[in-house]
Amino acid sequence: MQREKSKGKKKVVLAYSGGLDTSVIIHWLIEQYQCEVVAFCADLGQGEDLAAIADKAKRTGAGKVVVADLKAVFARNYIFPMLRANALYEGSYLLGTAIARPIIAKKQMEVAKAEKAFAVSHGATGKGNDQVRFEMAYQAFDPTIKIIAPWREWGLTGRSELIAYAKRYHIPVEATLEKPYSIDRNLFHVSYEGGVLEDPWVAPPDSMYTLTASPEATPDVPCIIDIGYEEGNPVSISGRRYAPAQLIMKLNAIGAIHGIGRVDMVENRYIGIKSRGVYETPGGTILHVAHRGVESLTLDREVLHLRDSFIVPYTSLIYNGYWFSPERALLQGLIDAAQTGVTGTARLKLYKGTAQLIGRKSPRSLYRPKVSTFEKDTVYVPKDAEGFIRLNALRLRHLNRNGLGTTEKT
Ligand code: ARG
Repeated sequence: MQREKSKGKKKVVLAYSGGLDTSVIIHWLIEQYQCEVVAFCADLGQGEDLAAIADKAKRTGAGKVVVADLKAVFARNYIFPMLRANALYEGSYLLGTAIARPIIAKKQMEVAKAEKAFAVSHGATGKGNDQVRFEMAYQAFDPTIKIIAPWREWGLTGRSELIAYAKRYHIPVEATLEKPYSIDRNLFHVSYEGGVLEDPWVAPPDSMYTLTASPEATPDVPCIIDIGYEEGNPVSISGRRYAPAQLIMKLNAIGAIHGIGRVDMVENRYIGIKSRGVYETPGGTILHVAHRGVESLTLDREVLHLRDSFIVPYTSLIYNGYWFSPERALLQGLIDAAQTGVTGTARLKLYKGTAQLIGRKSPRSLYRPKVSTFEKDTVYVPKDAEGFIRLNALRLRHLNRNGLGTTEKT
């Protein structure tokens, strides 16, 4: 009905998920802006029926629906570069939601351009990181685009009001009032926020998890897998080659059986709020450990340490929405330049929720058994160490002689 009314009008491209919020937004945009809504559905491997979602967008009033399968590009050009950098926010979060926003926004802007839309819109609330990530990216691609963030504009305040709105305008939604969590899912992870998780002392109920088995319910026999790397990128699992998206999905399946990759944390959102988040990233967790394993053999010490000093700033850029920034590109270039020799294989033991590195090998290994051995070797002259230590201790000896030595009492 709205579709007929809105045809031929100015267009808004909405990042549409098929959920309650973005369904209400379709209707709200048409009413508020007298526009035609183009619903953009990104397939990032969230495991939903995209054809059904597209159909629902139409029934809700969208004039057009664009569905894009972005799984391969998402894995190759977003997740893999992030994994090459060992990115981990606040020591725990593998950034599964943060890395999805820039690719959605980029493709959405391509649709906006093709459709000659005057505006883009999204369903992120006014309190989170996602609004920042979407809108930073939109503006990087078109400084003149109008951005409509309904959650910051409309008077609707909560879920029950949204459901009432949907009822009033006959918007097809399956949602019930007791939706327990805010969930975001793609091929890399699942995240949960809200509901009982808002009390950081309350343990996540086991029924909440969708990917991973609880460690108590995993096999009593460990699983040993080999991850092969070429120039910093994982290319194979136990000798079999996979394309990036398939490799992640395969590792998700293996890791899930062994309860790998659950994280429960209180994190700092960019906008200044602390938030409790729970994540499942089985494949990503395995790849994080495996990559470190191959790097430990193949990276020069000073290159490794210097690169490590950039991980925190690099991670913040992704978390805070600066994927399409010159500083992220700069750091990515530096990090990737160090990856050319990161070729080899990591062996992991998956067991009861842990992914443990138990072996690593590489044709580019810098590890020299002859030098590292505790047995007699011919290359390294232990006597040299005496002078090395004496010169490094020169300052300490000097301070002590001047009565300025260590204040350590015990
Ligand atoms: N806290 C995480 C982040 O900021 C996950 C956000 C999940 N989003 C959601 N709609 N539930 O990256």
